Amino acid sequence: ETWEEETPGLAGGPGGSGAESSVAEAPPGTLDLLLDEGSKQLPQAIIIGVKKGGTRALLEFLRVHPDVRAVGAEPHFFDRSYDKGLAWYRDLMPRTLDGHRITSYNVCYTKLLFLLGDPVTRAISDYTQTLSKRPDIPSFESLTFRNRSAGVIDTSWSALQIGLYARHLEHWLRHFPLRQMLFVSGERLIRDPAGELGRVQDFLGLKRIITDKHFYFNKTKGFPCLKKAEGSGKPHCLGKTKGRTHPDIDGEVLRRLRDFYRPFNRKFYQMTGHDFGWDG
Ligand SMILES: *[C@@H]1O[C@H](CO)[C@@H](O)[C@H](O)[C@H]1NC(C)=O
Ligand SMILES: *[C@@H]1O[C@H](CO)[C@@H](O)[C@H](O)[C@H]1NC(C)=O
Repeated sequence: ETWEEETPGLAGGPGGSGAESSVAEAPPGTLDLLLDEGSKQLPQAIIIGVKKGGTRALLEFLRVHPDVRAVGAEPHFFDRSYDKGLAWYRDLMPRTLDGHRITSYNVCYTKLLFLLGDPVTRAISDYTQTLSKRPDIPSFESLTFRNRSAGVIDTSWSALQIGLYARHLEHWLRHFPLRQMLFVSGERLIRDPAGELGRVQDFLGLKRIITDKHFYFNKTKGFPCLKKAEGSGKPHCLGKTKGRTHPDIDGEVLRRLRDFYRPFNRKFYQMTGHDFGWDG
């Protein structure tokens, strides 16, 4: 919901589009989590979300856990404040229980949480957000095709490029082993937040404290809400607040896009061992 359009998200990971990719720095579009277990500090985890993927929601849910500290807001370090330096970024980090701040990325053990949603829906949300700021951009249909009559998809359009998850994962796998990665479904996070949070807590080595009893579903909104949000203790609903309606996209264009993504999605399911059901 909150990624700015410039955020490259998953596409800009290590070995990705960045000219000088370094695994010693967190890639763009990330949120950091510090995990405490008494005084023992567990390795840091990073949420890597794609724009419009629900990163904010996952972070809000996880912050309910007493052993999770997280930077309160997306620091936007990598896209906006890079010139302030890493020291500034570190100062944003909450302190761990024994009062120490994380001072370096222990990249070898960093766990990576990827939050991903259906690439076609994501592209439309992405486009809709841009459209709301720049109403004069071309139609979704004309941006989708390099040559519409020939049906050639424009894979250089970032809204489409971000959804090529199999390709991006290949870059990540050059730097991190698969066992340090968890792939969270944006769709399931909405349908069954407690179930997805169960997987996340297991992966992070946390006690399963966040369960069904922390959530209720707001039918009007179509999104899950926290009964008590961390910090305020008040109910907190996630999801769209600005009520942007998606433009009607030609059904034929959607069909072409689904065909286009299918092999990439299948490959991604194979790589992760996890069927996200985006092609159903
Ligand atoms: C688009 O594709 C059609 C059909 O293949 C072709 O005849 C036409 O020259 C192409 N247009 C451009 C601008 O490439
Ligand atoms: C449900 O969502 C609607 C629409 O955003 C909001 O007005 C309402 O207060 C919410 N209700 C609860 C119980 O969260």
